[in-house]
Order: sequence, then C-alpha cells, then structure tokens
Amino acid sequence: MDDAATDGADDGASERPGEPQTGDAFGEMLRDHHAGEETYQIIERDDGWIGPSAGGEHYFSEFDEWTELEQRAMGHVDGRVLDVGCGAGRHALYLQNEGHDVTGIDLSPGAVAVARERGVEDVREVDVADVAEAFDADTFDSVVMMGNNFGLVGTADRAPGILDALAEVATDDATLVAQTRDPTVTDDDDHVAYHEFNRERGRLPGALRIRVRYGGLATEWSDYLMAAPETMADLAGETPWDLDETLEPDEQLTDAGGDYVGILTR
Ligand SMILES: C[S@@+](CC[C@H](N)C(=O)[O-])C[C@H]1O[C@@H](n2cnc3c(N)ncnc32)[C@H](O)[C@@H]1O
Repeated sequence: MDDAATDGADDGASERPGEPQTGDAFGEMLRDHHAGEETYQIIERDDGWIGPSAGGEHYFSEFDEWTELEQRAMGHVDGRVLDVGCGAGRHALYLQNEGHDVTGIDLSPGAVAVARERGVEDVREVDVADVAEAFDADTFDSVVMMGNNFGLVGTADRAPGILDALAEVATDDATLVAQTRDPTVTDDDDHVAYHEFNRERGRLPGALRIRVRYGGLATEWSDYLMAAPETMADLAGETPWDLDETLEPDEQLTDAGGDYVGILTR
C-alpha cells in the first residue's frame, strides 16, 4: 500500500474530505452578504439533524421589515443599551438611530467587523459569559437579546450565571428584552424526538447543542436554549431578574409557533 492510501486511514476525522474546518462560519456569512453575495446558513444539531436557517438578508433587515413582535419589543428599550449577540447590528443600529447609547457585543469577529462597518459606534468582541469582566457594574439601562438570543444563556446549568452577570452590568431598574420560542410547541417528529433525547440526558427539552455551517466552515459546537415562558421565569427566578410579561406575536413567526419576547426587570 502506498503512503497516500495509508495516510487517509490514520489521520482521523479532521482529515476526511468534506469535514468542515472550525472557524467563524456565521461571521463569514455576514461578511459575504455585506460584500453583496447571496448567503445561507446551515444549522447542525448534535443528534445529526441538519436544516437551513436564515441567510444574511435576515440579519441586515431594517425595522419596517421586522415582525410586528420584534418592532413592539423595541418599545420596551430605555436608556443605555447592551445588545447581546448583536450580529450585523440590525437592532443596535435601529436603537442608535432612535437616540440610544448602544454597545453591541458578539463572539464572532466577522459579526463585530460587519456591525462596525455598518455604523454601530460601539461594538466589541465579547462573550456574553464575560460581560461582568468587560463592563463596569450598573452600566446598562436595557439589555436586549433579540433574534432568539435568550438562547445564549445556553443550558439550565449555565443560565443563572449568565443572567447574574448581565444583572451585574445593568442598573437596578434595568429591563431585559429577551426573544426565544417555546420549543415544545411543535409536532415535528424529529424535534419531538430531540426534546425526549434531551430529557433523557438530563437537559431541558429545548437545550439545543448546535453549530452553524457555511461553506467549508463550522462554528464550535455551542449550547443554545429555546425556553418556554415557565422555563424563562424559573431560570430568571434564581437571579435578580423577574419575568414581568411576555409579548406574544399577532401571528406566529414559524409554522410551529411558540415565539415570544420576555420582558424581565430587576
Ligand atoms: C441568531 S444570531 C442573532 C443576531 C442578532 N441578534 C440578530 O437578531 O440579527 C446569534 C448571534 O449571537 C452571537 N453569539 C453566539 N454565541 C455568543 C456568545 N457566547 N457571546 C456573544 N455573542 C454570541 C453569534 O455570533 C451571532 O451573531
């Protein structure tokens, strides 16, 4: 057997043709969209399920293209704002134009670069888990986690720590505007089976473990929580935040339903 034939057998999965390279898949998608290319993203879940998700166009959309639910959520934002996982900065830009002092944070270098190029004045590469180290206490009057970004609390174990850290950098009368969806409002067999798989391994049903794929790139695997209102209330109850109300859409955003925005105060 020649060297080439034995090399492939010994080098492991990372050398397999077609295996994605770990990198800033989401950020590259945003950069390409910003450069005028047509883009897409694929979500891969840790049970092997894969599916298409919103492409760049969604992340660059303007206020009047948003759902009525997202538009209404912006009415709960006050004062100085922290936009958590700001992506290409659609909420940060809207709020900045409305006169708010806005800081956007994102883990993706590509997202930070694109948001900055689009005009977000203060955008930084910060992991939501590190906000208490990145900002002074009592800095923000509002924290927004839009585009289902309540999901960034990750899992039931991680959520209270992240919500505590966000409370630390928020003022005493701050508001947290957190979008997500109740994952159990679905009759899709694959999703129902995944929720059961999660319960069996001691996770909340909507505690997704996913990565984003774009071209030959994949992000690191990460935890992203889809939470029913009762779950959001329970997790917040362990922290300074309380779930005051939920904003329900006039029309559900997806066929499955379950979309809402939680309004939490301290
Ligand atoms: C679903 S997108 C939402 C983007 C934006 N909020 C919107 O609605 O257009 C999720 C964003 O969160 C960012 N993100 C993922 N993990 C993060 C983390 N640990 N800390 C901060 N941002 C994170 C991603 O890079 C991505 O930009």
